[in-house]
Amino acid sequence: MPPRPTIHPLRTLRTLALPLQTRTHTTSTTPSTSVSASELSHFSALANSWWDPQGPSRALHLMNPLRHDFIAGCLAEFDPIRSVPSTPSPRSSPENNPLRYLDIGCGGGIFAESLARTIPSTRSAERTRTRAASITAIDPSKTLVKIARDHARLDPGVEAHLRSGRFEYRNCSLEELIAGQSATITTTEAGASSTKDGRYDMVTLFEVIEHIDNIPGGISPQTFLTNCLRMVKPGGWLIGSTIARTFPSWLVNQVIAEAPWPIGVVPKGTHEWSKFVNPGELEGWVQEGLMRGEDGVVSRGGTRAVEKASWRCEGVVYFPGVGWRLVKGSETWGNYFWAVKKGE
Ligand SMILES: C[S@@+](CC[C@H](N)C(=O)[O-])C[C@H]1O[C@@H](n2cnc3c(N)ncnc32)[C@H](O)[C@@H]1O
Repeated sequence: MPPRPTIHPLRTLRTLALPLQTRTHTTSTTPSTSVSASELSHFSALANSWWDPQGPSRALHLMNPLRHDFIAGCLAEFDPIRSVPSTPSPRSSPENNPLRYLDIGCGGGIFAESLARTIPSTRSAERTRTRAASITAIDPSKTLVKIARDHARLDPGVEAHLRSGRFEYRNCSLEELIAGQSATITTTEAGASSTKDGRYDMVTLFEVIEHIDNIPGGISPQTFLTNCLRMVKPGGWLIGSTIARTFPSWLVNQVIAEAPWPIGVVPKGTHEWSKFVNPGELEGWVQEGLMRGEDGVVSRGGTRAVEKASWRCEGVVYFPGVGWRLVKGSETWGNYFWAVKKGE
């Protein structure tokens, strides 16, 4: 049995001590985009090798199965539809897979496509681990979205989901999605559905937040995260992965991983160590994002939103020859998964 991950309420006392009124960030009214031109061109240049399991996206391919494990662990703790510990339905039923997913910063679709594969092809299917009913995947890189969509079409089962609208790719930024201005790249009219108010049961953000610039007076990783939280419906999960800003992570992700071939596994410039985010920092941003609520302004209900949320964080370590493994406590070393469940 793997050790149980850390899941606990967000630390509300620390949140209440935050000097919110002195902060200069705004959220919903910020006119700028979170997309950095240099990050965009860096990732777009990797598009043609995105699906090569030995190429520059190798680490993402290797980590992908663990994302499903982590999501399954979150769902085992809390069911976003009912916000109670999950109890499997004994029979096949459409209720078994009701969850609508949004994948932010999907790149060439490694996670999005694997999640689409878990969407049942019939409405009476057995419950799947992810309980996915649909997925919308967005990325600001046009080149990557095209690669993602072309790859998805190679699998008839996944292509059927594209055609039915249960799976869709959109070439847009999160801000554009929120503003409803996205350029949709989909073969269907319907599209994968959010809830009526445009929010999702499950929002995923894998290896993206460490690529968001901190622009004084503009969007920062913190305000970006607040926008991600806005896309989660009450009782839903925001789940992600990123890298802590530590000496081991500098050594592993910057020095070794970006070393010249044959030592390095990712192109130089993939990561900027100063943009890595420590778990405590991220938890603080989540608290403030919840406090700010839907309109980006700290509200009276904010403290309650923090109290009703829960936080989960677990480190992941790569073992050569074995692969990535969840290792409790290693979140302070480097790579880690994190999740926040919004209160109802
Ligand atoms: C390291 S890749 C991760 C791709 C994918 N999430 C995965 O893990 O397989 C980072 C992705 O974030 C996207 N990205 C960068 N800035 C973004 C932003 N402001 N909003 C959304 N996505 C962004 C990039 O285009 C790129 O596809």
